[in-house]
Amino acid sequence: MEKKRYKLFYGGRGGGKSFAFADCLLVKGRTEKLFIACVREIQESITDSVYKLLCDRISYNQFEDYKIYSDRIENIATGTKFIFKGLRDQDAQKIKSLEGVDIAWIEEAQTISRKSWEILDPTIRKDGSEIWISMNREEENDPIWKSLGAAPDDRTLVVKVNYCDNPFCPEELKTQAAKCKEQNYDDYLHVWLGEPRVQGERKLISSKDVKAAMVPKMDNSSSPLVIGVDIARYGKDKTAICWRKGRWCYKLEAHSFLDNVQVANILTGIIKEDRPHRIFLDVGGQGAGVYDILRDRGFGEIIRGINFGGKAMLEDRYANKRAEMWGEANEWLRQELPVQIPDDDELSGDLCAVEKGYDHRGRLKLEEKENVRERIGRSPDKGDAFVLTFAEPVFDVGKPSMYGNGQVTIESLFNQSNRSDIGW
Ligand SMILES: Nc1ncnc2c1ncn2[C@@H]1O[C@H](COP(=O)(O)OP(=O)(O)O)[C@@H](O)[C@H]1O
Ligand SMILES: [Mg+2]
Repeated sequence: MEKKRYKLFYGGRGGGKSFAFADCLLVKGRTEKLFIACVREIQESITDSVYKLLCDRISYNQFEDYKIYSDRIENIATGTKFIFKGLRDQDAQKIKSLEGVDIAWIEEAQTISRKSWEILDPTIRKDGSEIWISMNREEENDPIWKSLGAAPDDRTLVVKVNYCDNPFCPEELKTQAAKCKEQNYDDYLHVWLGEPRVQGERKLISSKDVKAAMVPKMDNSSSPLVIGVDIARYGKDKTAICWRKGRWCYKLEAHSFLDNVQVANILTGIIKEDRPHRIFLDVGGQGAGVYDILRDRGFGEIIRGINFGGKAMLEDRYANKRAEMWGEANEWLRQELPVQIPDDDELSGDLCAVEKGYDHRGRLKLEEKENVRERIGRSPDKGDAFVLTFAEPVFDVGKPSMYGNGQVTIESLFNQSNRSDIGW
């Protein structure tokens, strides 16, 4: 409540930052007339903002003097007004409308770009105006952190809060934090204790995990066989095929210069010979043709077409299907039980190359494939074939017995298995 130009609260998930800011602003707004702007880097719709949290807190606190509109919140007694804006897509003119703001609340401030910050800070120019900032530091040099948190002056209040400081922290969050601490200490430091990630950690998959997975330790598995197929897009790309049974990924092949019929013939041979439960086929580009041929041959029950740019199944964790498959593959590699992958330099190179990021909803997102291609000098075909085996969970529903035109009898079982979301 004390006056400060900048109030920066940072720390990990569950520290109570958002709730406390919401409550304080609502209480302040009942005693004097304030113009409050709730901003973030990207706000595609008002549901991305703290609007809902403010509404919940109004109702919880029974502040009947607040009136809620579809795009703003107003206090009918004092005239206080809350508005909600994304900074990235505003031109300088629109940001000017923030000049009369008394308090600007920047939520998830680690995602604020330098450009947005450099426009916003001088725009909040009214005498006595304040900027309230809540964030979980992402990198050593997040623009706002560099500008305010790294060397705070006496106009700046910097407070670190974590879940353990929050007297209201739900048991569920504490349990999740404890689990994370046990399973991945690096993640725990960042997500829960608010430490920035170190730069080298931009890679999704750690080379340590890949190395450990390459050590031979299994020679069989009773889990269902799943095959991933990444189909060449350009002349020098390879069509890569990967075989995985549960924690044992035992075979990887790459073929150059095949046409669709040749790829379909190879896969037909594999279906008859190895009897996979599922084949996941990349159907962006050339793959769609292979998919059609295999369907026409009656293998529609076994093959699934996967679109890398499509929606994830776990939509609130992953920005798209590609991020989901890579993310699930990473979880698989990191699990405590032993896993095995072929000792293949290209595969390990592909797996360790991809850098990660997060979208404005905090979902895992990968760097563009073009970047990866430029960095490693080839398309990560083997890596894509491997992660395709994680496209959907596959269950052991008994040995499939018959394949081919009109003879497949296992679809109902597959459907049954699809209902659950475990089993990757
Ligand atoms: N004043 C409060 N009253 C009740 N519960 C609270 C309060 N502040 C925080 N909490 C609880 O703590 C959780 C985490 O708070 P939140 O503000 O979302 O943390 P942060 O923004 O730091 O991640 C909330 O989901 C809520 O359950
Ligand atoms: Mg929050």
